[in-house]
Amino acid sequence: MKILVLNGVNLNMFGKRDPKHYGTTTLAQIDERLQALGKELGAEVECFQTNFEGEMCERIHRAFTDNVSAVLINAGAWTHYSYGIRDALAMLTCPIIELHMSNVHAREAFRHVSVFSEVVRGQICGFGADSYELALRAAVSAVQSSK
Ligand code: DQA
Repeated sequence: MKILVLNGVNLNMFGKRDPKHYGTTTLAQIDERLQALGKELGAEVECFQTNFEGEMCERIHRAFTDNVSAVLINAGAWTHYSYGIRDALAMLTCPIIELHMSNVHAREAFRHVSVFSEVVRGQICGFGADSYELALRAAVSAVQSSK
């Protein structure tokens, strides 16, 4: 089982940026935790981060040809307006789990909208760095139940 974890714009700054919303865990530490949990759950985990929207779309296109089993995506602010990433995600046939560290529904109004909602299996938000591990568990269980 291959799980691709996609992180979007500004998320390389986790650990330094706005600790009230995002805590102090770095993206490298999150990646490490996901690798460990992946081993436990029998999934190969690959993590990717970019600040460039076109690069994110191209990574999603590669996921289409690579036949990944599931995708986790925290697209950061792109979540709220990027139809380009939404259309790229819509090409995938595997389960997609959207996740956020912060509870986006308890924040500014523009964060209440996700343009990905219609193309993802579900959304996890508000659990800090644990959102990633919860999303990985959800992805593995979605893949297992589709077999
Ligand atoms: C975020 C929430 C987004 O609204 C924000 O733009 C981010 C991070 C989160 O993980 O809580 O960059 O996706």
